[in-house]
Amino acid sequence: MLDELVKESQRLIESSINQKSEETILCSLSKLHGSNKHGHGYTKLYNYIFENSQDNSLNILEIGIGTLIPNAPSTMNLDPNSPPPTKPGGSLRMWKDFFRYSNIFGIDIADDCMFTEERIKTFKANQAKPNELIDFAKSFNLKFDIIIDDGVHLLGPTYITLVTLLDFLQPGGIYIIEDIWQEYREAWLDLLKHLSIAWPEAKDKYSTAWIDLRNMTQPWNESQNLLLFFKHDEKIDPIIF
Ligand SMILES: C[S@@+](CC[C@H](N)C(=O)[O-])C[C@H]1O[C@@H](n2cnc3c(N)ncnc32)[C@H](O)[C@@H]1O
Repeated sequence: MLDELVKESQRLIESSINQKSEETILCSLSKLHGSNKHGHGYTKLYNYIFENSQDNSLNILEIGIGTLIPNAPSTMNLDPNSPPPTKPGGSLRMWKDFFRYSNIFGIDIADDCMFTEERIKTFKANQAKPNELIDFAKSFNLKFDIIIDDGVHLLGPTYITLVTLLDFLQPGGIYIIEDIWQEYREAWLDLLKHLSIAWPEAKDKYSTAWIDLRNMTQPWNESQNLLLFFKHDEKIDPIIF
């Protein structure tokens, strides 16, 4: 599924990020609300991708709300003696402020991540369990325009989440997997090949891009790869980079 067009998209995205050395609105909102997406360099890319849809009314889902429970899987609190400046819900509030007319949904397995505020709803679910994801999506009876997986970051559950939630991605929408370790690259490419054999229509329905942002921060970070899936929409021009 990774074709020349997508490689060209990646080259253009990377050069646009490098040109924009200044902080973007999303970078500031990430810092303000206690996400760590600016630290990974993701907010420059996202600002570039989403700046023209900021005023649209979208449904946005993020898996991984940001627990501070020490020793929980993928916790943001790696050193309880020196708690991080992050807060549960940081990225959900970042999206809420950036997309002023959109609804933001969050899924997490941890209790300290559950809250509700205007235009934000959270839901407790384990992303490794398709039935819990399906229960969530069906309970709101809608499709999502943007889905971001910033949850457990292990290959198996991340793949399960992808194949479960692609059905709930709106045509014209985008699905993003964050924080992929470089050592998982070959495994991901194998999984994508497997997916395109098991599900031949996928090739016409989606474009994919592997975005390597390992050089975006100091020190060099081996887990700063992103995998993007664009769901084609015959009625709307695809996002052109
Ligand atoms: C890196 S944090 C998310 C940070 C947040 N997106 C932000 O940018 O501020 C990862 C989250 O994934 C959650 N998580 C870990 N395993 C999970 C699972 N199996 N299902 C759902 N969420 C999970 C953790 O509880 C944690 O809150």
